[in-house]
This record gives sequence, structure tokens and C-alpha cells, in this order.
Amino acid sequence: MSRIQIKDLLKLEPSEQSVTAKGWVRTKRESKNAVFISLNDGSTIHNIQAVAEPGQVSEEILRLCTTGACLRIDGALVPSQGSGQAVEIRIARVEVYGAADPEEYPLQPKKHSLEFLREIGHLRPRTNTFSAILRIRHALAFAVHKFYNDNGFFYLHTPIITASDAEGAGEMFRVSTLDASNPPRTEDGRVDFSQDFFGREANLTVSGQLEGELGALALSKIYTFGPTFRAENSNTTRHLAEFWMIEPEMAFFELEDNMDLAEQFVKYVIGYALEHCKDDLDFLEKRLQEEEKNKPQNERSLPLSEKLNFVVGNPFERITYTEAVEILLKSKPHKEKKFQFPVEWGIDLQSEHERYLVEKHFKKPVILTNYPKEIKSFYMKLNEDGKTVRAMDVLFPGIGEIIGGSQREENYEKLLGRVNEIGIDPENLWWFLETRKFGTAPHSGFGLGFERLVLFVTGMTNIRDVIPFPRYPKSAEF
Ligand code: 4AD
Ligand code: MG
Repeated sequence: MSRIQIKDLLKLEPSEQSVTAKGWVRTKRESKNAVFISLNDGSTIHNIQAVAEPGQVSEEILRLCTTGACLRIDGALVPSQGSGQAVEIRIARVEVYGAADPEEYPLQPKKHSLEFLREIGHLRPRTNTFSAILRIRHALAFAVHKFYNDNGFFYLHTPIITASDAEGAGEMFRVSTLDASNPPRTEDGRVDFSQDFFGREANLTVSGQLEGELGALALSKIYTFGPTFRAENSNTTRHLAEFWMIEPEMAFFELEDNMDLAEQFVKYVIGYALEHCKDDLDFLEKRLQEEEKNKPQNERSLPLSEKLNFVVGNPFERITYTEAVEILLKSKPHKEKKFQFPVEWGIDLQSEHERYLVEKHFKKPVILTNYPKEIKSFYMKLNEDGKTVRAMDVLFPGIGEIIGGSQREENYEKLLGRVNEIGIDPENLWWFLETRKFGTAPHSGFGLGFERLVLFVTGMTNIRDVIPFPRYPKSAEF
């Protein structure tokens, strides 16, 4: 019989049928009357237990069935004597695909710290915690595509290599075929990019938005979902140098429509995970509660499922930047102490401010709108007041900013004015500006940081633990 995934094997009736399981040993236990092997193949958090009577499997093979070894087990599916599972395999035959020397294999059946697991990034997907996170990550990615597909959006593949700096923050990784140690130079000594592969400077994209806008002004509703890159040297638990972003862009959407979509979208994908990842979420919830045991009762966070259900079931708070600043000015964040960064109208809100609003004041997700134009990107639509733009950030408990977006400036003159004001060369954006010249339309969009979403849903606290191969300063071993 060919292999069945363990998740499906566990659902079968134990009617003595022959089955084959293939996977990695989690634990092996021997008693006088039997040997028990727990096997996991990554298809589920649960293991299948395989039991052999003494003598059924040779000593030589049994010795190799240690934690981490990869096996094929053939046998009969029978009712399990043990608690916690309905079925188990009565072993007929074991084949060892690959042993894992217990003297060397770093993953032993005990709890390893997340820091330690980060050092063995090549093996950590084999742990319960990381395999659960990776399955939830997959389900969330699938839910993203399902949501947009079901709502009439088209998936637009925007380029990874691009000449534009969408966010204007200058945090780009350069892509070049020039010899970095001796690049060709122009007469005035600057690097001569005309001799480069693309005949000009090129970078890894920081956002697919600008190209997304081109798509929206043709297909009405598009979304991108791809890797984005930021060369910001930020060693934080919320930033990566390579992260995945989902960016919907919609013609004929005003800021209010944009907020409605963002709220509906995150609620949908979180709800999808609640419905489809129950076992993995239960596992992570138990893990978190274990960690919080030592904290005093009033400092413990809500159980993961309660937190997620709360977000799905309650409307987000919507306030303007100006209202937020007023709340912060009146607030007493840490007993009588003030914020580390003083609050006044015009500042870029720091994470301590965002978290105060979300976690202490409103105690739910907040959508902040109408920020001062100086602290936001050039493409956002200017309000009548001439001071604020139609921006929106969605702030989440424990995370801070999870979404950033806006209504876009669709007026050619006003957009050109902002481009010049900020000092961007309009030559570099001629293609973007032309969309405002020919058949412009009101439109809006936003970007959701996928890893921040996965952080929230899994209850993890470090962004490096929710992406299989995190890229951060000095990280890239493979
Ligand atoms: O706020 P940001 O920079 O917005 C944009 O890039 C817009 N072009 C989006 C749009 O309107 N289409 O980034 C959007 C989101 C943030 O809210 C955050 O969740 C995430 O991307 N993000 C990061 N996630 C991980 N590591 C980083 N270095 C991130 N920078 C932003
Ligand atoms: Mg932002």
C-alpha cells in the first residue's frame, strides 16, 4: 500500500488494514512487552504511534530509530490502547531511510528555546512549534488568495527588480552587474549606471504599489502578494529585510471603502485560520499559556483563540491622527510617567504611542486616518485642509502597524506638485504620472505585512520566528 499522510491516517477506521507511514521519529520508548515509536510527517501536529512486539523488528534497526531518524513503517491499523489517539500501527516492518545520530542531532525530545532554534534554522521546521507556524502561514496565504479571488480581484505579478523607490525612503537593495570594487564612472566621477545591465540604477522592490496602481487603472481591482525588500538596518522583533506583502489596489475606492476592505480582509483571513488550523492553534495556545504560567494573573494575555475571536467579532475603532494625538496628550501611559517620545501634532507616532492607543485606550484594533502630509509618502491624496493626507494605518494589539495604505492622489497637477516638493525626479516617474494624465480615476489601496499577520495569528513575539528563512542584518547563512 502506498503512503498515506499521517493527518489522513489518523482519521481512518482501525480495521486491521495494511498501511504505510513515512516520517521522522519524534520519540521512541521501549518497555518489556513492546516498543513504541511516534512518527510525524509534518502534515499535522499529531503523531501516529507505531507499536512492535519484542522481536518483530531487529535490534539493529531499532537502534537506528532514534529521534530525528526518517522511517518507513508498514503495518496494520488497529485501535490504540493508549489514550489521546484512536488508532495506531501494529508494526510489520520498519525501513530506515536516514538515521540521526543522537550524539549529534540537535533536536531532542525536550523544549528548546526559540533563540537556540533560530541558530538551527535548517532543522527547526521539524519541531512542533515551527511546523505549526508553517502550516498556519500556508493557510493564511491560501486564504488571502481566496478572499481576493472571491471578491473579484485579479492577482497582478509586479516586478521584483525595479527602478522605482515606491516609498521614497531610500531603503533599497541595489541590483547591479557592475564590478562593485571598480565600477565604470562618468566624467564627474559618479558611477556610470548606463553601463549596467538595465542601463540605469535598479533595485529590489520595496513595494508593488506603484505598478499595482497601473493594474488597478486598467482592471479595476487587483492585488499583489510577493516578497518585498527593505535595507533598513533595524534589528527589531517587527522588521525583516525581506518580507511578504499583500497589496490590493482598487479603482473607484475612496478612503472609507479602503478601510472597509482592510477590516473585512483581515477578519476573513483570521477567521479562516480559526476554522482551518484548529489543532495547530490549540498547540500554540497551550505553548503560550505554559510560558505565561509564571506571570502574575493580571499580566497574562488573553488565550490566543479568545484574542483572535475578539478581533474577528468586533468592529475596529476608526479615528483621525489629530484625535489620536489629543488622546495621547491627555493620557498617562505608565502610571504618572510620560512617553519616552514626547507627543505633539506632526510627530510620526512611535510604537509606544500606537500600542497605548490599541492596548490601553481602545483595547481593540484601531484604524488611524488623515496623517500630516510631511510624515507620509508622496502619492497620498491631499485633504482640503492642505495639511493632512488621506492615509490609513491599521494598528493591532501586540503588533502596532499591521497595514499601511491610503487613497491616492489622482490629480495630475497636485501629484506632480508633491513629487517636485519632495525632490523626486519626475523623469523617473513619467509612467506613473501618465496614468493621471490619461483617464485618471479616484483609487485607493493598502499593504498588509504578511509576517505581522502571521505573528498576530500564531501569538509569536519575534518576526524571525514566523518566516521559514528570515533575512535580517548578518543573517544569511543559506
Ligand atoms: O507602511 P508600508 O511601508 O506601506 C507600503 O509599502 C505601501 N506601499 C503599501 C500600500 O499602500 N500598497 O508597509 C506596509 C506594511 C506595514 O504596515 C507593515 O505591516 C509591513 O508592510 N512592513 C514590514 N514588515 C516586516 N518588516 C519590515 N521591514 C516592514 N516594513 C513594512
Ligand atoms: Mg507604514
